[in-house]
Amino acid sequence: MLVRRSVLWLLAGSLAGLAGQQAQEPERLAPYYPTPETVVEKMLQLGGLKAGEKMFDLGSGDGRIVIMAAQKYHADATGIEFDKDLARQSSDRIKSLDLQKTARIINGDILRQDLSSADLITVYLLPASNEKIRPMLDKQLRKGTRLVAHDFEIPGWTPVEVLQIEDDGEGRSHTLYLYKR
Ligand SMILES: C[S@@+](CC[C@H](N)C(=O)[O-])C[C@H]1O[C@@H](n2cnc3c(N)ncnc32)[C@H](O)[C@@H]1O
Repeated sequence: MLVRRSVLWLLAGSLAGLAGQQAQEPERLAPYYPTPETVVEKMLQLGGLKAGEKMFDLGSGDGRIVIMAAQKYHADATGIEFDKDLARQSSDRIKSLDLQKTARIINGDILRQDLSSADLITVYLLPASNEKIRPMLDKQLRKGTRLVAHDFEIPGWTPVEVLQIEDDGEGRSHTLYLYKR
């Protein structure tokens, strides 16, 4: 039976939120919950990523989206990840793959980044977090920038395409939303 994984990690996110935040630390916009590689590929395809374009993954986890963007699509890829261990692991992987010229991880807060140079942005954050990042996206993104959101829409934006993936190979369904500014 197909299971909507979004429901599972929505719950995980709420619990993480309840665990509380340390003052002055970046706000935790989602728990770590990686996108399956098959879905990563679909996100980059749907986003129409081309060689040389600048892409950002907001909350890059283990860096899988950034790495595929640089390695397979020859894009200039940046991940933003506030978790020190994930940022270090993904940076080490980028180095071991010799992708440092075209891929990097910023160990920082999504809400404090300059995204104005982006051609494509990918996000896999909680619904309330998509609402929270929307004002900065509205302010910073130039005309033509594409954004692919995994499982949760950007409230108030209208997608130009919605891709339903019924089975990711492990019996789970996913929805991808493509937006164009
Ligand atoms: C659901 S995971 C998605 C990981 C990756 N983008 C993927 O799709 O495989 C969300 C990631 O966002 C990171 N994150 C949450 N809040 C953040 C913030 N304020 N700044 C940077 N990263 C954040 C988490 O640590 C986690 O790795």
